[in-house]
Amino acid sequence: MNYKIKGVILAGGTGSRLYPLTKVTNKHLLPVYNKPMILYPLETLKSLGIDDIYIVSGGEQIADFMRFLGSGAEFSIRLTHKVQDGPKGIAHALLQAEGFVKNDEKVAVILGDNIFEKVEVPSEAFSDNNAYIYIKEVEDPERFGVVKFDENKEIIGIVEKPKEPPSKFAVTGLYIYPSDVFDFIKTLKPSQRGELEITDVNNWYLKQGRLKAIPIDSFWFDAGTFESLFKAALFIAKNNM
Ligand code: G1P
Repeated sequence: MNYKIKGVILAGGTGSRLYPLTKVTNKHLLPVYNKPMILYPLETLKSLGIDDIYIVSGGEQIADFMRFLGSGAEFSIRLTHKVQDGPKGIAHALLQAEGFVKNDEKVAVILGDNIFEKVEVPSEAFSDNNAYIYIKEVEDPERFGVVKFDENKEIIGIVEKPKEPPSKFAVTGLYIYPSDVFDFIKTLKPSQRGELEITDVNNWYLKQGRLKAIPIDSFWFDAGTFESLFKAALFIAKNNM
């Protein structure tokens, strides 16, 4: 079986770490050097050959996204806009795309503030029943979901924003899931911060032996803080991205 992979961009959340930039403007429409942030994940999905994309955002600024991205025709993609009621977490945002992804399809999910220099989908991902995460060695792992390895370098767990990170490998905001991800999300309970956590989803695939991790050597930024937004803009300006 060869799965078609559809795309979902998650552009919800309050952007509280970038306040007051985000008081009026949605985080994902802020400039990263010469483009609004949202165009970077959109181009990443396009670079993976994905042209059917769902964009999930909070209700307040959906009109801004529609005005800027329209039907997607300008970007040679088919875009569907969808509202997430309330910032209830990444997994909850992804659940809004249930119905968009059919049983014989997979979904590539990307966070709207994640900027990748270059990524690829391994060919097995089109035919196996596994989930894929992209991991990257970073200096500040405590900001992210962090991978825990055993002595054989096999992943044995993912911990969300640990005070004492078990490794320096962050889970980036790009994931590929089989269509059973939606049924699992429906069984999830909110975490202590009141959100349905994507890390719980990844740990569920891991427990079933269905999680594959792809290390990234190229650049990756989560542009959700002042520092990372600034660094991402500098990198893009210097590298003509
Ligand atoms: C989210 C995820 C985290 C991941 C990060 C990547 O965190 O919860 O596991 O490492 O995205 O950008 P957030 O930045 O939404 O707090």
